This record gives sequence, structure tokens and C-alpha cells, in this order.
Amino acid sequence: MADVRNTQQPQPVRLAEYTPPAYVVDTVDLHFELGEEWTSVHARLAVRANPDRAEPGALFLNGREMELLEVAVDGRPWPETDYELNEESLTLHGVPEHFTLEITTSIRPQENTALEGLYKSSGTFCTQCEPEGFRRITYFPDRSDVMARYTTTIVADAERYPVLLSNGNRIGAGTLPGGRHWVQWEDPHPKPSYLFALVAGDLARVSDAFTTLSGREVALHIYVEHGNEDKVDHAMRSLKAAMAWDETAYGRECDLDVYQVVAVEDFNMGAMENKGLNIFNTSAILAKPETATDADFQRIEAIIGHEYFHNWSGNRVTLRDWFQLSLKEGFTVFREQQFAGDRYSAPVQRIEDVRRLRTAQFPEDDGPTAHPVRPDSYIEISNFYTPTVYEKGAEVIRMMYNLLGAEDFRRGTDLYFQRHDGQAVTTEEFARALEDASERDLSQFRLWYTQAGTPRIHVDGDYDPEAGTYTLHMRQEIPETPGQRQKEPMHIPIAVGLLDGDGNGLAPRLTGEGERAETTRMLELREAEQSFTFSGIPEEPVPSLLRSFSAPVRLEFGYRDEDLAFLLANDEDLFNRWEAGQELARRALFRAMTAYRSGAEIELEGTLVDAFGALLRGGTGDKALVAEALTQPDESYLADLMDWPVDPEAIHHARRSIRVRLAQALRDDFLYNYRAHQADGEYSADPEAIARRRLKNLSLAYLVAGGDEAGIEAAREQFRQATNMTDRLGALRPMVAEDVAGTGGALESFYEQWKDEAEVVDKWFAIQASSPVYGTLDRIKALLDHPAFNHKNPNKVRAVLGAFARGNPYRFHAADGTAYAFFADQVLHMDGINPQMAAALARGFSRFRRYDEERQRLMREQLERIRREPQLSRDTFEIVTKSLG
Ligand code: ARG
Ligand code: ZN
Repeated sequence: MADVRNTQQPQPVRLAEYTPPAYVVDTVDLHFELGEEWTSVHARLAVRANPDRAEPGALFLNGREMELLEVAVDGRPWPETDYELNEESLTLHGVPEHFTLEITTSIRPQENTALEGLYKSSGTFCTQCEPEGFRRITYFPDRSDVMARYTTTIVADAERYPVLLSNGNRIGAGTLPGGRHWVQWEDPHPKPSYLFALVAGDLARVSDAFTTLSGREVALHIYVEHGNEDKVDHAMRSLKAAMAWDETAYGRECDLDVYQVVAVEDFNMGAMENKGLNIFNTSAILAKPETATDADFQRIEAIIGHEYFHNWSGNRVTLRDWFQLSLKEGFTVFREQQFAGDRYSAPVQRIEDVRRLRTAQFPEDDGPTAHPVRPDSYIEISNFYTPTVYEKGAEVIRMMYNLLGAEDFRRGTDLYFQRHDGQAVTTEEFARALEDASERDLSQFRLWYTQAGTPRIHVDGDYDPEAGTYTLHMRQEIPETPGQRQKEPMHIPIAVGLLDGDGNGLAPRLTGEGERAETTRMLELREAEQSFTFSGIPEEPVPSLLRSFSAPVRLEFGYRDEDLAFLLANDEDLFNRWEAGQELARRALFRAMTAYRSGAEIELEGTLVDAFGALLRGGTGDKALVAEALTQPDESYLADLMDWPVDPEAIHHARRSIRVRLAQALRDDFLYNYRAHQADGEYSADPEAIARRRLKNLSLAYLVAGGDEAGIEAAREQFRQATNMTDRLGALRPMVAEDVAGTGGALESFYEQWKDEAEVVDKWFAIQASSPVYGTLDRIKALLDHPAFNHKNPNKVRAVLGAFARGNPYRFHAADGTAYAFFADQVLHMDGINPQMAAALARGFSRFRRYDEERQRLMREQLERIRREPQLSRDTFEIVTKSLG
């Protein structure tokens, strides 16, 4: 079955052209006959002209990749002369004011490798309808502002597909001749088509229950492949924790009788919040200590929370159109981050959120695919599930939280949920509810939704000993982005503290204000240039700026190295302690790069060694924070910080030498920490145990990097003896990174031991693909030929090709361009299988202008070659043309 391809140049869809639907749908009755070759779908819709529209005119229905078998209006076949059918739609002319529309289509889920609409994942039928998959199931006004009540009947072979699921409550079931059976589901909540879901398969079920605050019993079912029942404990516990958290943190109760979650192997993203029937990528749900790392456990808890929180932020209150995607995603990511911060450690969570923002979103905001949090046009909406919509979108919500304070923010979200329950709305309604509840003016703040680009804030400090005042002069600049030349100054919350010479926090008050108790002051920068003067300052302070990363900006202040070491040791804001350590490390890395490029010896200065040594010797007591501080910024983040041209070799070598030198200078401290934090007893995923393993394995990685014989032996030993995946990989990773003797054998035995666990095999692929030693082009090609690799499984594609492009810049950007040509072949090959995955890979070239002229030429050649492909999907076409600019 061919995809819709760009025979003509694909045209953008624009926010400015939004019009309400001409017809609305009140009820949808679906009848599926699932078959081995094809599936028939009968849909009966109650349609009526939208009273908000004067002249409804024709009824427009989206649809693609289907065979249309029948169309009937009010029980009579609709004449072919009164409809128009093309590759992407069906239009009915002259329909009545309200009527029953019946449509029968035939689809081929078995051949659907795009994984949108109804498809098969290792024997199980499943769906992914967000954003525009429903139109591959039946002809429908497939837009989020058309909300209807659904009833779904599924008929299938009883032996192959004993489990038949859809949204809502099970209202009937029965057997049929020929070994078939049926189940009927009814969803009482009106919903947009993107929240529809269906699953049919032979699955095992693990059940539990949750009682809501007001006493509603919610049955909880998690469905997995037989044999995986022992990997859902953590997800189930996380789900109950998320349900309880949303009640206390946001006053949101579950509105369902049954909450079902299904794990499938082949999935384009992490998971999907279909009403009452979430579908998850197995990688985002299955975990047991033997096969999953601490990071996996935390990621699963976060994603389970994320999808559950969507039940209010996304489902009860949904989107008017896809330009509003961040209304649900930004807000839900923010809720997920708060939940994870409450479950583990708020500052460590913040560090991880910011690290993700900086490695994924900052580069996007600074490149050819930069777009506002609320985009104003797209060619393919699937390309807008981006770090900007998700992560920057969450930062925008967080800034409103920072400006309003916790109480008014909560009043605002209460008002938002109450006012818009059951509606399809825009980001404007969200901002308005917060304004109404807090009596704050967010008009300038709304620019965060419409202006792309990461603001740069330059700050200078000025102490006046005579007057006892300290002034911060701030200047904001928003860089140019595609389609946006002129920018207005933004409204930016900047949390500031001032430290005295002993490292104590002052209680800063602006000139004219009375005494204050709090040591953190939320400044509001609104002008292009603005100064803030604090009074009653007895000595020149060291400022702690942008505490807890109060806004998604790049802030510059001329700290001396000693100031950074001082902040790292003393700041009460744990995030800023980490930040100071990162800045010290960044400076050392950039000095090392300069040395490398001029052929000089790479030296490590004392300040960084002393500061990190003090941390390791236990200044803070917070193991997780120490581990975060000593974690090196990764190569792609350093590339983003580097002035043109990015030099992948210098980055790689400088980063490695700094690691080796730190390891050697602090060898005893690392050894001490490695030994002091050995495991005792059974695995637990509690914050303390996770922090202990993190610091232990970080110490081990440094010992191995330093070439320490005892450390290397300890790694080999830990690899063999580990009883959980965190420790096993904690040993294998540094072995691979440093290629110590015995690593090849360790990789082989690892595969032998885990070859039947798909999630573990993905780790095995990724560890090699992202290694400069084991991820050379020849080896990448060999991995693609490995029997466990499969281009149709997105997790495998991410584990090899994704990890290679993103995690292995040293090899990906090989100066001769051979990796580029190989990778472009892969993009083209993937485009014929799964356009969403192909477009995601194509982004590997999008920042080609950041590189030297020769690499630019080589990458541009590949982008042009991809663009010339006549059958290119809309997804890949958009990324490639925008990259070429
Ligand atoms: N709404 C989902 C989530 O963030 C992701 C949607 C998947 N979208 C897609 N284009 N496959 O939870
Ligand atoms: Zn989401």
C-alpha cells in the first residue's frame, strides 16, 4: 500500500486559516471485522450542521490509504455523482442539516509500516491515531475540535485474538460461528478522533485497582505479551502514585471505571494517552531490575505519569487545532516534571530537565527548523512533536508558575479545568484563566508562545560601597529565526540570590522595598535593557543568577573561576551549584579544545580539580548532586556551545583528556567513593539507592578512564557479578568507552545472555552505535545486518541509527563524508517504510551550516540527494527543505 507522496509540492497548513468545522459529529458507531489480509470498518455517524456556521455547504472528510466500499446517508446509498473522492479526502455535496452517515472501508493493517492508524505489532492489532491516524481507519472529519461519543464493536478470531479492547467500558461480548468472537465497548466521554484506540491480541493481563478521593473504584489493567507479566510491577505502582498525586497537586480525579494500558513493541513514540486505553512502547513500560536501569525505572514512572495526567490536560480539556499542541504537551510535561521532582529530588530532576532542554531544544531553537512553541504553519504536523513544543512548552508553563507563585498558579489551573471542561481550546484560554485567577497581566508574556529563538541575557553587576547598593544591569536579545526577523523584548522571570563572603544568602530587597525574609528574589525582566538595584548590601556580593533555571534562556555573567568554585561550594540553590560546576568544566573543556587545535599539551587547572575534589570528599552529602556535577556535558551539547565552525574532533579529544586528567588527579577520591557506595541487599528504585548507584558507577567510570588497574579490574568484576542492569551497564559502558582489554568478549557474552529481551538488545545496539571505538561506520553497517536488527521496529532504528547520529558525532561527522552518504541512504530506505522515523533521522543533517565548509558541502550534497527523491514523504520533505533553507 503506497503512502500519499508529494507528486506536487506539499503545501503548508496555516493557523491564520483556521475555521470551525462545517459539520459536527455527535456519535460514532464503529464495527471492525479484523482479518489476516484485510480489515473492514463500518462507521455510522450522527452528523449535524455546526450551528456556529451560517452556510455549512459540503461535508468534508479526511481519509487516506483505504478502499472506500460504501457511502450511505440516512440508510440510502449516496450517489457517486454527489461525492468527490481523492487520495486524501471524501467530500459529500448537498447533504441534509442532520443525518446518519454510514461508511464502509477496507484497510490493510498488516502492511501498515508507517505505524499510524490501525497496524500490527508482532501479532497484535493496535492503533496510533494522534495526530492524523484516524483518517487511515475511516473517512472522518479528523480534527481535534470535532468531539463525539464512540461505541466500538470488534469482531475477530477468538483463538488468535482473545483480548479485544477499545476506549471506555465493555458493554457486551459473544461468540460467532467460524471460531470468531466479538466485544463491544462504549466510551461515555465525548472525544476527538485522535484519542480513539483499539487493541486485539493474545495478551496477558495484570490487574489492580485505585479508589479516588471521592470513592470511585477504578479498575487498572496492564496488558503485555505472555512472559512479560513480571515486568509491570513498577508501572502499576507508578500509575497509582500518579493518580494520587494528581488529586493532591491539581485536584484532578480519575473519571473512568476502567483504566487500561497496553504495551506494544512497534511504536513511533514513547506512549499515547488514548482515553481510558493508553498504548505504550514496551521500552516505556517494561522493567525489572535484571533488565532495566535506574534511568529506565525513572523514565517509566515519568511516562506513566505523563499519559495519566493527559486525562485532564489533553483529554477532558482538548485542543482546538494542532497549532495548540503545546497546550496539552507543554503543560503535561510540566506536570510530569513536578511529579518526578516530588517522587525523587526536585533539584536533581530540575538538572535533568535542563540538561535535556539544552541538548535537544536549544540547538533546535538555533537552527533551520526553529519554530515557536505555538507554531503558525506546518507541512506535516507529525514533525512538530518537538523539543520546542514539549520541553520549551513546559518551560513556558513553569515561567507562569514562577511569576504567579504556587497558590495563584493552582487557582488558575482550577479555573482553566472548570471553565473549559469538555471543550477544545487554545493556549490563549490557558493564559486567560491564569490571568483571571491571579489578576496578573500576561499580555507581554504571551510572546513566549509566538516568538521562536532562545533569548540571550547579558548581566553585569555593580557594587557601590558608599551607598551600600548592588545593581544588576540586564540586557536581553532574541536571535533571528526562520521567518522571524524583528523580535520584541520578552517578559522573563529571573530568580536571583546574593551571597556574602561567607557564602550565606542575603535577603535582597530592591531599593524602595521594605525588609524581606526570602533569600531568592524573582525579578521580572521586561525591557530590552533594565537595571535592578538592591539596597542595604554591606559588602560586594556574589550573585546567584537564574536560580533553578527560572527561564529557558542563555545567561552570561562575567564570573571569575573562583566565583564559580565559591558558588559550587556554597549556593543554597542546588541547581545553581551544579550550574557553577558545569560552567567551570565548560571553561576547562574549551581551553583544552584550543590547546588541542594548536597542538599544545592539554592541561587541567587546579580550580576545577580542587572544586570537584571537595565535592567528592563529601561537602554536600547529596550523592545525586555530586554525581550530576561530575557528569561531563556531552559532545553534542559542547558542539552547540562552540562558535562556528564546530570541530567534532577537538570536542572529542578535549573531552576525553579532561576526563582522563580528572580521573588521575582525583583517583583516590573516586576509589573511595566507588568502595563506599557498594550495594548492600536487594535492588530498590528509591531515590537514595539510585543516588548511591549513580555515584558509585560514576566513580567507576572515572577510574576506568584514568587507566587505573584496580578500577579496570573492578569494572570487569562488576560486569560479571552484577545482579541488576544499572550495575552491569555501569561497568560495561566505561569498558566500551575506554576499550579496555576484554571488552569485545564482554559485549559478546552480554548479547548471549540477553538476546531474548528486546529492550536489553536495544541497549546493546545503542552502546556500540554511540561509541567512537565500536561505532565506526563499518561496525554500524554490521549492526544493521545483525539478525536482531529490523528497520520496521522504531526502537531498533533509534538504537542504531539514532544513537549513531546523535550520540556519536565523532564518527558521524567523519571528515571524508562516508558516514553522511551512508546515513542518507538509510533516510531514503526508512522513508519507504516509516516516514515519521525517516524525518526524525533526516534531522541529523539539519544543522549542517554549523560545520566547516567541506563538511557543509558534503552534508548539503546528501540533503539535496534526498530532496530529489520523487516519492519522498511529506514528513521528510519538510525537514529536508527547511534544513536547506
Ligand atoms: N501525545 C503523545 C504523548 O506525548 C505522543 C503522540 C504521538 N504522536 C505521534 N506523532 N506519533 O504522550
Ligand atoms: Zn504528551
